[in-house]
Amino acid sequence: MSTTVTTHAIGASLDRLDGALKVRGAATYAYEWPLDNPAYLFPLQAEIAVGRISGVDASAAEAEPGVLAVLTHENAPRLASTRDAELAIMQSDEIAFRGQFAGAVIAETVEVARHAASLVRLDYQARAHDVQLRSDRDDLYAPDHINPSFDTDSIHGDVDAALVSAAVTLDATYTTPMEHHNPLEPSATIAISADEGLTIYCATQGVHVIRETVASLFGLDPLQVRVISPHVGGGFGSKWATHPDVVLAAMAARMVPGRPVKLALTRQQMFIAVGFRTPTIQRIRLGADSDGRLAALAHDVVEQTAKIKEFAEQTAVCSRVMYAAPHRRTTHRLAALDMAVPSTMRAPGEAPGMFALESAMDELALACDMDPIDLRIRNEPEVDPESGLPFSSRSLVACLREGARRFGWEQRDPAPQARKEAGWLVGTGVAASTYPVYRVAGNAATIRLGSDGRYAVLIGAADIGTGTWTALTQIAADALNVAVADIDLQIGDSALPTAAVAGGSAGITSWGSAIFEAARLFRARLESEHGGTVPAEGFEVTAEMPGNPYALPPFAPAVGAPPSGERFSMHAFGAQFAEVRVHADTGEVRVPRLLGVFDAGRIINAKTARSQLLGGMTWGLSMALHEHSVVDPRFGHVVNQDFASYQISANADVGSVEVHWLDEADPYTNPMGSKGIGELGIVGTAPRSPTPCTTPPVSACATCRSRWTSCCQAWRCRRTRS
Ligand code: MOS
Repeated sequence: MSTTVTTHAIGASLDRLDGALKVRGAATYAYEWPLDNPAYLFPLQAEIAVGRISGVDASAAEAEPGVLAVLTHENAPRLASTRDAELAIMQSDEIAFRGQFAGAVIAETVEVARHAASLVRLDYQARAHDVQLRSDRDDLYAPDHINPSFDTDSIHGDVDAALVSAAVTLDATYTTPMEHHNPLEPSATIAISADEGLTIYCATQGVHVIRETVASLFGLDPLQVRVISPHVGGGFGSKWATHPDVVLAAMAARMVPGRPVKLALTRQQMFIAVGFRTPTIQRIRLGADSDGRLAALAHDVVEQTAKIKEFAEQTAVCSRVMYAAPHRRTTHRLAALDMAVPSTMRAPGEAPGMFALESAMDELALACDMDPIDLRIRNEPEVDPESGLPFSSRSLVACLREGARRFGWEQRDPAPQARKEAGWLVGTGVAASTYPVYRVAGNAATIRLGSDGRYAVLIGAADIGTGTWTALTQIAADALNVAVADIDLQIGDSALPTAAVAGGSAGITSWGSAIFEAARLFRARLESEHGGTVPAEGFEVTAEMPGNPYALPPFAPAVGAPPSGERFSMHAFGAQFAEVRVHADTGEVRVPRLLGVFDAGRIINAKTARSQLLGGMTWGLSMALHEHSVVDPRFGHVVNQDFASYQISANADVGSVEVHWLDEADPYTNPMGSKGIGELGIVGTAPRSPTPCTTPPVSACATCRSRWTSCCQAWRCRRTRS
């Protein structure tokens, strides 16, 4: 075998290898495994926001024909560990948030389970609850660190002094709402308990993380737990960590040993059990000279966590890397509420954080009377402003320029509300995208060359709809310098070599690095042990990368990163352009055109990459215009917990979405030269210019001339100038 790659599988626009299976309905999703004699599970959810269960009457449910068992805290299996209070369901009579799993019914059919669940009576002693995020709360606290392992606060220089002496300043507060993940496939689990342990079929972003969590909760050796998840209908972070639904299914399986217990969350339950994006209140202060050169950048964030478990989103971390400013300050403060635990949702941190930073940069451009692209280029840092490290590669400026050229930026009229066409105000906007290149340690991969000349490549990776099956096969082909058709990839099973979650856009980097290492070892050992000739019985090699892949929670940090991780700051970048039309009479918003140009390193598969970035941009549009989970403070729950009332951008809302990339390999990120693309696309779509509705105007901004109606409060101008 040659070590010179001649196959060029990486970069090809290959069709999804699992595509035919999926369109034929033959790809088995978690709930669909054809197992004998299944039982069905339906959860009971707490009807108070906080307090305790004072009484249980399950007699009517238990009398229902077909009911196998009713679980409550009184009889549920005891967990070996209750350290993770989100997962320690039914371990006491305490209720921590409305909708928390407080029990469940196991029955012969799903209909009986659901009906019987409605017959279980739980009595409560409620206590006063606290579910409102406000920036003036006196109990905000600084977490020990923020996700994945960043400093909570970072202060360089003297922001306050620099703001006083700056020629142009901006002080604006941006808020983003709570949002919920809604993958096509709601979370689903089948759990089977047997003497040897637990088998779990579930929809997950990482089989090994589920294995580790479940094993520790149930006091098992990890090897006694098998997790199988070859196909997943979207995750977006909702399937990144173990959630209580998997624990509930495993508990129920323990109650009916030998029978597969099936649990599919309803869409409504997806709004309570699998995490959400925290709402944020972000104050940004910028100080610049009259040429737009930043002297000061402050980004102070208030967001929420749950009383029972901390989740500290890294909202302002983007402001540590984007722009050069000698005086910088980023802080995070949390309110611990009587609500479910927030979690990772596509680009946690960057998506809401860049909404604020990039909106502020746009407003600063107006205040400085500068083109917003020129303003960004003027503040382009030479090295990572925070660490002083050089970037492994950073082509933000090239993305801005290429995007401007393709979008026709030159033709725009920069003045707000300058263009009106047939009753529509036509505006254009630009914002930057960024996402870190996370690399998760401890992945392993096996390569087995069979006597049939085919290469089995084994790694417990996840394809959550992103194209992992295809991209990893391409990577393996180039790593081994053989044809894609000669590779049989196996993923999605904890019996395969250990793999990190599909999360933090780190999957391909982490798994692909292990596959490249396995291929290197394969060649080296074949040479040293067999003189380069494959033995008749075949040949197998496993590579184990150093480090711990189960860095739990809240987010897998890049522990044990290769030495280059300390020499370079690694990030993907992009520039997004939008044409937005606002009807002058009705305030209706339309987005006929989105265009993004991305620096995501080398692109592994042009077809699946385009889908990823296009999906991210579309979700960014949805974030900007539609998505908003509404909490009723009287009861502490999300009221719009279904697709009738939680709005998501649909086909009719999406115009042209153009995706481009520079396709420059990064020499340091990983052997492929790629950067993550799963989250980059959503970052930077949402920021906006303050230029929407005019009629009927209720107020006008003194400085930018924008006028605002009561119907578009979300777009109101918050700019103040000193
Ligand atoms: Mo993703 S939100 O990093 O699971």
